[in-house]
Amino acid sequence: MEKIYIHPLPVRIWHWVNALGFLALIATGIQIRYLDLVQLIPFRTAVVVHNYIGFVLIANFFLWLGFYLFTDKITVYLPEMNSKKYFEDSWRQIKFYGYGIFLGEENPHHPTIYHKFNPLQIMMYQIIMLLMVPIMFFSGLLLWDVKRFSTLIELFGGVRVVDTVHVLMFIVFCGFLVMHLYLITLGHSRFAHIKAMLTGFEEKHDNPK
Ligand code: HEM
Repeated sequence: MEKIYIHPLPVRIWHWVNALGFLALIATGIQIRYLDLVQLIPFRTAVVVHNYIGFVLIANFFLWLGFYLFTDKITVYLPEMNSKKYFEDSWRQIKFYGYGIFLGEENPHHPTIYHKFNPLQIMMYQIIMLLMVPIMFFSGLLLWDVKRFSTLIELFGGVRVVDTVHVLMFIVFCGFLVMHLYLITLGHSRFAHIKAMLTGFEEKHDNPK
């Protein structure tokens, strides 16, 4: 069986710090927001931990961004520029996730280090990493010190607007996590993608399941 290297070390470090950090942010965020319903840790501790992890994840985001911007691996995030081929590839992937997978068909996308994502993954990860994550971090930064950022907060419509955006992003990320956790189990075995994100290597299986 052939093994292909698809997740370089900086991506793996970024990913697991990010994943653990997001889970901690979700837990402490729920504690901060729903104080009446949840009393797992003291409110003050939840705020301090939430802020601290927020800053760690902002720094970690720049590790991810820097890695892709300054290496040739940026290709994994570049979509197909031929629109006909782009739609054909996307449709093939939708059909695979929609029913092909249940018939035991082979995944039409074969990852390599320069093209590890199928068109749907490229689109989803771009939206998450280049839109949702920056909005989440930026709104969190503004809420971290409302006095210091009062001018910017007013510019965006006030604390309530910034807070609503932050909570909406929280809902988006909870939804993303559910979908992400399902999709990562669709490798040639239940834990194949998780193993690849830990070791860097994806096992290549020629035959469908
Ligand atoms: C317990 C939580 C998580 C687990 C177990 C997990 C697992 C994985 C696995 C196995 C992959 C590789 C499969 C693939 O390439 O599609 C992956 C990729 C990825 N995950 Fe997660 N993930 C988690 C949380 C998150 C969170 C919270 C985010 C974003 C906020 C995230 C964003 C990504 C991105 C952007 C990639 C592609 C990374 C790259 O190669 O550039 N993940 N994840």
